[in-house]
Amino acid sequence: MEKHRLQTDYLIIGSGAAGLLAANRLAQHGKVILVNKGSLQDSSTWYAQGGIAGVLSNSDSIESHVQDTIISGAGLCHEKVVRAIINRGSAIIHELIDIGTRFDRKDGELHLTQEGGHSNRRIAHAQDATGQAITNALLARITPNPNILRLEQHTAIDLVTSARLGYPENRCLGAYILSPDGDVLTIEAGHTILATGGAGKVYLYTSNPHAATGDGVAMAWRAGCPVMNLEFIQFHPTCLFHRQGSNMLLSEALRGEGAHLVDSQGRRFVFDYDERGELAPRDIVARAIDHEMKKQGVDCMYLDARPMGESVITEHFPNIHARLQALLMDMTREPIPVVPAAHYVCGGIQTDVNGKTEIAGLYAIGETACTGLHGANRLASNSLLECLVMADYCATDVLQQLVPARPPVPAWDDSGIVPETERIQIKQNWDEIRATMSHFVGIVRSDERLRRARRRLRVIREEIASYYWKHPVSQDLLELRNLAQVAELIIQSAQHRHESRGLHFSTDHTRTDIHARDTILRPDEI
Ligand code: FAD
Ligand code: SIN
Repeated sequence: MEKHRLQTDYLIIGSGAAGLLAANRLAQHGKVILVNKGSLQDSSTWYAQGGIAGVLSNSDSIESHVQDTIISGAGLCHEKVVRAIINRGSAIIHELIDIGTRFDRKDGELHLTQEGGHSNRRIAHAQDATGQAITNALLARITPNPNILRLEQHTAIDLVTSARLGYPENRCLGAYILSPDGDVLTIEAGHTILATGGAGKVYLYTSNPHAATGDGVAMAWRAGCPVMNLEFIQFHPTCLFHRQGSNMLLSEALRGEGAHLVDSQGRRFVFDYDERGELAPRDIVARAIDHEMKKQGVDCMYLDARPMGESVITEHFPNIHARLQALLMDMTREPIPVVPAAHYVCGGIQTDVNGKTEIAGLYAIGETACTGLHGANRLASNSLLECLVMADYCATDVLQQLVPARPPVPAWDDSGIVPETERIQIKQNWDEIRATMSHFVGIVRSDERLRRARRRLRVIREEIASYYWKHPVSQDLLELRNLAQVAELIIQSAQHRHESRGLHFSTDHTRTDIHARDTILRPDEI
């Protein structure tokens, strides 16, 4: 076999919660190649704080979790999907416990916390570092495993499909992957699973790690997959406002345990917007903060954790407390400055609950997918739940599929490429996309802002396209190309919605339509 060609049964791109559990399952049945473009910490999963939602106590019920999810989703949740995910949730959480995830306990029972929009305590957590606990437990299950080849610091460039090679059926055949030393690997796979996470990096201020550049959505779109509901970008209400810690999250569980949101005068302003106050769904709380900052002409609001008491802060939130102390702030003694920041993409590659896309042999799971679970606004702590349940369902579905004979994938062609002489254009385009999205496609939108953003993105995308095909691929360039693609899809999706609903609020269309509909964009129609 050629030096840069690999073959596998299952190619999984992304090693957050979704990718790790899928690898775990599928490695019991065949060869897995698990690719991720950074270190294992460079995933949103690793940074997850608050916890994972599930029906875990006798005082809770599936119906209550379903209804909370549907209410938060503002009329756009797909009820069948909501039920399928929530029904499987507690079994998956118990499996996490069985494989060593040490969720907090009190008097022998799971300690369940509360977050906005939940009518019950139902969030299992490992202090304020739940993502690390889950990642470590899942990793321990697949390390070492002779059936899994892990390629870290490897970046997927594009999917290869039979349609692109001129065959009538569109089947995914694998992907081209950039290795850290600049070689492009051709990986041929019976099934390919995108588990590439979100796209928070589209915005200047985000809670997301660097990896969140929307690569999966962009790759799937270029391969021919429809995308759904990408206008619904969730802004987390409480990210730290500080020059050295701009992507640090202050978990919603802090409010669940009694922290207040206040202005500089100490006034709890959220009750002016919703009677549920600090525990209203995220879209409402984030808009309240945004509105109050604009009204008062100030840069931030404050999270006051002092009402919780010092021992709750230090016992339940030791990591957040320590990180703040390193920045010379003390949650036990003073309110902490916060602003909303891009946190989660509710939309994504259109899939069913198993992660199946329209392309045979291609699945998408976790944050990169859009199943309809979250509707127009995700309920807190429902994302880790979706990642894991989808990975589980996906593996079951994949194992039922027959893999037909497939054409060979041609090697990566880099003829006609000239070396880069400078990188300034990449940096400039990155900055411009993120500023444009933050100014024009943020928490509050208007027709004019969206038009302006679309015009700018079109020019940037043309510049990137002409640059891309002339120069060697690099991680920066690949991410920039994907970021621009996803930004444009977010704007186009927002332009399709002539109403305000959930996370999409437009000053030109403030009413909510009686009939809720998904926004679906198809590559062959644009
Ligand atoms: P991720 O965990 O983001 O993993 C994506 C993987 O894809 C990474 O390994 C990355 O390297 C890889 N990748 C991406 N592009 C490529 C490419 N081109 N080539 C190769 N690899 C690639 N949700 C909850 O339910 N509860 C919480 O408490 C919670 N807290 C959060 C706190 C923070 C700070 C953040 C940012 C999010 C939080 N969320 C929470 C949301 C949740 O963590 C994410 O939605 C979820 O972890 C996404 O998991 P994933 O497996 O889909 O993707
Ligand atoms: C948090 O801890 O506030 C994040 C929870 C989530 O995004 O679901």
